[in-house]
Amino acid sequence: MPGLTIGDTLPDLEVETTHGKLKLHDYVGNSFTIIFSHPGDFTPVCTTELGMMAAYAPKFAERGVKLLGLSADDVQSHNDWIKDIEAYNKGHKVNYPIAADPNRQIIKQLNMVDPDEKDSSGQNTPSRALHIVGPDKKIKLSFLYPASTGRNMDEVLRVVDSLHKASHHKIATPANWKPGDPVVISPTVSNEEAKQMFPQGYETAHLPSNKDYLRFTNLHDT
Ligand code: BEZ
Repeated sequence: MPGLTIGDTLPDLEVETTHGKLKLHDYVGNSFTIIFSHPGDFTPVCTTELGMMAAYAPKFAERGVKLLGLSADDVQSHNDWIKDIEAYNKGHKVNYPIAADPNRQIIKQLNMVDPDEKDSSGQNTPSRALHIVGPDKKIKLSFLYPASTGRNMDEVLRVVDSLHKASHHKIATPANWKPGDPVVISPTVSNEEAKQMFPQGYETAHLPSNKDYLRFTNLHDT
């Protein structure tokens, strides 16, 4: 994927939002931050997504994660659209800022352009991109969905929980992992180190190769 991707530093852009002007690095501060783009205001899938984000916002806040939406239109349009979003989504308040990008400069720098979708003026629209930025201002995870597919906020929450676990322990989360499930011990950790690091113990899957690389443990933090 050309452009901004995992491991890159988020450009420190100044953006106009529904909460005023923000510098992206100041906004991220010491938190994980989710930046998610939308093709345009007053469009159906986006109205459901931004509302669902509003409903999930307390769950992200509990995890210390900030939210920043982005849609291609201007701040006045965003503020008008928020009334629809809140009405449709049973009054969940859109308390997070939504950035404006009427000239499509931000989406180019954040690798959020949909090359196949243009608006009525012929400008490229944003895709449904989502970057999770760490406190070090680096991109930790990106999703890139087309306009036709709304995102699943349970999955966004799940990957936040996985990133948090992996940033505190030398572990990774296996396929279909959800909070509370066992995690796998990083392959860079020797068995001797694993005994020290995971005093609760771990189980090794016995596989034909006998390489003992698939080791599961339970973390008791939340
Ligand atoms: C939508 O949000 O529903 C949408 C936006 C742009 C293209 C297609 C769908």
